[in-house]
Parts: sequence; C-alpha cells; structure tokens
Amino acid sequence: MRCMKQNQVGGHCVSDEDDDGDEAATAVVVVTPILKPFFLLIFLSFFLFFHLFVSSKKAPNSAAAAAATPPLIRIRPGFRSYDDYIKLQLNKTLNPRLRRVWATRDWDRKVRVFARFFSELKAEGLLTNASAALCVGARLGQEVAALRGLGVAGALGMDLVPAPPLVVAGDFHAQPFPDDHFDFEFSNVFDHALYPERFVAEVERTLRPGGVAVLHVAVHRRGDKYSANDLLGGVDGLVALFKRSELVRVRKVDGFGLDTEVVLRKKQQETMKKNN
Ligand SMILES: *[C@@H]1O[C@H](CO)[C@@H](O)[C@H](O)[C@H]1NC(C)=O
Ligand SMILES: *[C@@H]1O[C@H](CO)[C@@H](O)[C@H](O)[C@H]1NC(C)=O
Repeated sequence: MRCMKQNQVGGHCVSDEDDDGDEAATAVVVVTPILKPFFLLIFLSFFLFFHLFVSSKKAPNSAAAAAATPPLIRIRPGFRSYDDYIKLQLNKTLNPRLRRVWATRDWDRKVRVFARFFSELKAEGLLTNASAALCVGARLGQEVAALRGLGVAGALGMDLVPAPPLVVAGDFHAQPFPDDHFDFEFSNVFDHALYPERFVAEVERTLRPGGVAVLHVAVHRRGDKYSANDLLGGVDGLVALFKRSELVRVRKVDGFGLDTEVVLRKKQQETMKKNN
C-alpha cells in the first residue's frame, strides 16, 4: 500500500516493492495449515506488486503526455463526450430567459463596454476600420455590434447558434473559415473550450500572418458553470498554446467577470521563410 500511495504522487515504487517482497518471502517459510489463507494473500500481493511494477514502467509515457499539454490549464471533469459538452453549451445559449435578457436589458450596456475595449485597441493600431474582424463565441453579437458601431464594417460573429445578421453558425473547435482569413479575432469564451489547444490552433489558422488575437479570460476568479477549463495561476498556459504567434501584451480589464486581456500577433511566417 505504501508503494501504491507513492505511485499516486508520482514517486517510483520499485525499491519499495523489493522491500515488501523480501518480507513476504520470510513469511512463507513458517507456513502452517492454519496460515493457508495467508498463502493466498501473499500470492495476491505478488500479483499486485507485479501489476504495480508494470504500471510504474508505463509511467514515463503518461508523464511525457502530461508535459505535452500545458499544466496551467485544467479541463473540468464531467464531460463524458463532446456531445455532452455541446449539450451543456447549447443549454445556456438556447435558454429563452437568458436570450431575452441578452437581447434587451443587457444589449446597450454590453455594446458600450465592448466599444470601449475596441476603441482602445484601435487607438493602439491593433484594429482598423478595414480589419476583417471575427468575434469567436459571440452569442447574440453585442461585440460585433460594438465593432460595427466603431466603423469596423466587416466585423462578424460566430457561435454554435447563429444570430443573423451579426452572428453566423460555427464551432470554435473547427472554424468554418479558410486559412489566413481574418485581420483580427476577439473572444471572451476561451474558458468554454473543451479542447483549448484546438481553440487556439483554429484562431491561428484563420488569422492572416500579422493578424491580432485578443482574448478576455478569468485569471483571478473562476468562470461560470458552463466553463470547460480553468487557467491556473496566470495566462502562461494560454500563451504557450499560441505556437505561431508572439505575445503583444497582457493587461487587467473589467469585462463581464473576465479580468485579463491577452493580445497576441500571428508571426509573419512568409517573411521569416524568405529570410532563411
Ligand atoms: C437546461 O438544463 C436545465 C436544468 O439544468 C433543464 O431544466 C433545461 O430543460 C435545459 N434546457 C435545454 C434547452 O436543454
Ligand atoms: C472609422 O469609422 C468611423 C465610423 O464610421 C469613423 O468615424 C472614423 O473616422 C473612421 N476612421 C478612419 C481612420 O477612417
């Protein structure tokens, strides 16, 4: 049992196994008929230790797999399948009471707050009126309305459920857009991604080289019950997923429960290749 416990915390249990094996061998010498059940027990122990030995040999593989996915993002347990996950997301998106609130009482307030964020990005030159802009996970599209209101006429939203004319249907795990398509992508639903690496890979695929990604995430508080992942302790795990981009900046914001804005820029791969 000692061995099993150590195994769980990642320790190696080979030497423990040897120790316990020796103790067991000593016990066999003094066996009497009354001790027959112990025989069985010892046999089972050997079997168990052998099993643990084999699984400890497998451990390096799973450790390597764990190292490949950023440890700073935790996927929430409880999704038995992708369908389960989609059902939960649709449950919120299709909730008639929430949709009514989003379309009425919430609308102006949200558009105003989004407009403030986007004008700051425009002032910094990260976004222009001519930008082909996509809002990923836009629900009814307040952020799209904010962008268009600021003059970004080509702004478009995408969500599981379309909301014409601002929001088209699409899953952020497999965006329905070609490569190198957008100049700018904004999202405040990264925490809803069941496969964060796919979410990011799709943003990077559909952004043109030099294109800008802006994500609003929760670092200092947890997302809601519809969140599928949590950032643990900072944005490092998120930034590490952007393999084809450079970090522009991270700053504090106050955006509907999301407290951190991360800005990245997709690298100019073509230029880099020409230089080589
Ligand atoms: C969403 O879940 C609630 C319970 O949490 C359930 O009552 C409701 O029917 C579900 N709605 C949809 C659209 O699936
Ligand atoms: C962008 O569009 C807005 C709204 O139409 C306009 O007021 C602004 O002057 C435009 N900016 C530029 C740089 O053209």
